Amino acid sequence: MWDDGRLCHGGDYNPEQWPATTWREDVALMRRARVNLVTVGVFAWSRLEPAPGRYDFGWLDEVLDLLHDGGIRVALATPTASPPPWFSLAHPDALPVTADGVRLHHGSRDTYCAAAPAYRAAARGIAATLAARYAHHPALAMWHVHNEYGTTCHCPHTEAAFRRWLVDRHGDLDTLNAAWATSFWSQHYADWAYVSTPRATQYLGNPGQLLDFRRFWSDTLLAAYVEQRDLLKAANPAVPVTTNYVLGDWVPVDHARWAAEVDLVAIDHYPSAVDGGAEEQTALAADLARGWARHGRLRSADPARATAPATWLLMESAASQIHTPGRAHTKEPGRMARHSLSHVARGSRGAMFFQWRAPTGGAERFHSALVPHTGADSRVFRESVRLGEHLDRLAEVTAGETAASVALAADAASGWALRHPGMPSELLDGHAELAAAHRALWRAGYGCDVVVPGDPLDRYRLLVLPALYLADDTTAGWVRAHVEAGGHLLVSYLSGVADPHARVHLGGYPGAYRDLLGLRVEEFHPLAADEQVLLSGGGTGRIWSETVQLHGAEPVGTYVGGVLDGRPAVTRHRVGDSTAWYVSTRPDDATYRRLLTEAARTAGVHPVCPDAPPGVEAVRRTAPGASWLFLLNHTDRPQRVPADGLDLLTGIPADGAVTLPAGAAAVLREHPR
Ligand code: GAL
Repeated sequence: MWDDGRLCHGGDYNPEQWPATTWREDVALMRRARVNLVTVGVFAWSRLEPAPGRYDFGWLDEVLDLLHDGGIRVALATPTASPPPWFSLAHPDALPVTADGVRLHHGSRDTYCAAAPAYRAAARGIAATLAARYAHHPALAMWHVHNEYGTTCHCPHTEAAFRRWLVDRHGDLDTLNAAWATSFWSQHYADWAYVSTPRATQYLGNPGQLLDFRRFWSDTLLAAYVEQRDLLKAANPAVPVTTNYVLGDWVPVDHARWAAEVDLVAIDHYPSAVDGGAEEQTALAADLARGWARHGRLRSADPARATAPATWLLMESAASQIHTPGRAHTKEPGRMARHSLSHVARGSRGAMFFQWRAPTGGAERFHSALVPHTGADSRVFRESVRLGEHLDRLAEVTAGETAASVALAADAASGWALRHPGMPSELLDGHAELAAAHRALWRAGYGCDVVVPGDPLDRYRLLVLPALYLADDTTAGWVRAHVEAGGHLLVSYLSGVADPHARVHLGGYPGAYRDLLGLRVEEFHPLAADEQVLLSGGGTGRIWSETVQLHGAEPVGTYVGGVLDGRPAVTRHRVGDSTAWYVSTRPDDATYRRLLTEAARTAGVHPVCPDAPPGVEAVRRTAPGASWLFLLNHTDRPQRVPADGLDLLTGIPADGAVTLPAGAAAVLREHPR
């Protein structure tokens, strides 16, 4: 199985794009790079089933045998993210329809509607056929269902399924009408048949309807995954099943909710930033993945999972070029390894890439690969060989779990709700708020976990709610219980303002937390994109500001100038032995970092490696009686870091300090403490 104790190295392997002679070279090169897991067949449906019911498995049989002989395990994909041309011709009703009613056509990938019965039946069919043939193949390490669930649809099949989902969720139309506040703009529904998906419309759509559609679609995609998973499991229950999550606000998938349904959380990560932001984004993506893995572990029925460290897998990343808007950016030497180790430090069971070999044709021919167009005599391949060696030396870290005493709460629906165009500012972005808080903690050197409302908080000294917009009584009670148990809290603007249907809590913002925070927000003052407010102490705030009235809290910082001159911007409220902070604007990065450092200090939390120089990232994994310190030098100068232990990458002991060359990393097995 996949868990042979090693860290995984490898990526998407598309042998169907190459002649058989190349397969042999591939296996030889994979062995050189110590590749031990490859995803096969992810977009191969038209080569596996070139015409309805006519299968061609000869090439896949041969490839799987070759890989097995080479000691390389396979994450065998179900190819359902890209139905073949014959399918779209035979089932035009299964092609997706956009919100403005345009039916998309074959020619790219993902041209299917996940609610269309014909698509679902065909997906089950090919999954079952693959299961029957390969479920006991010795190369099979795991099933990789589909690819990056995330596309959406507004066709009649979707609409009918949406109505059924709404009946399940709301029970009756009165409840639906109340949840969606349909008395506004004459949207009251007197019959389920009147309800549609949120299509393109004249002006602002209904916020409750949009939110429910997102939830419904996440559940629909999940059902499509689950039915494939169940078929694969039925063929061989011992083989784990997963799917690779794609990250981004546009993705209509609640990954936390999915986490208990996958045997292993797997993510794809392609940072959009090319400067230092790429490292921050990498850390956040990995912390999110671990959060989902922890959340899934809590809900998993598998007893082995309940006691093991929260583990997940970086299923795809870029070996070199990062595709940023408008151009591709080539990763600097050493950067791919640091990103990989950042993921491993945060719980990934390895570092996998899209893709093994760069193709000569096809839409993504210039996407980077472990074997680039240049071939194996290339910097990128040499770096992947070195990474393979390093991953091999790090197997023991899998016993540890990444340590953190700060929790950041995130929930998909809050992010979706904040994007409604009827919000008081078009600059609101839940992921950006999470990223800003995470970045501040990352730069200050704190380890943090991302938690889902309701997750246990006993291990955290500080809980941060970054614009966690939606809260019902359960979420409010969860936050209160944390504070009453002695935990500290930092809440940023627009948290707890609305209920799960995006209806505003009355009586002053933020309705869910104002007592805990000892304040009441009376009015919002959103800022223009190019506007900022000055804060006492020299910082600035962007995006948002508010009229905050104190009801027990004390001001820590005030607005300077403008209509809010002298009024509280940041506050602190003592609750027993705990402190509940409130931040009513988006502070600049340095100010946010100072603030979170102060909140962490008050909570008794320390940075992972307090004396690490700026630009050196430190992450610790711990197990009973053992710990491993990952040190990543993101600067272009050598850096000396106080630390003790044995560097597993070089085999050199660090006695009091380790000197990291520019752009290099060390992983220390620390002396027992
Ligand atoms: C991923 C996708 C891969 C490939 C890659 C390119 O999102 O799963 O198939 O398209 O992006 O960056």
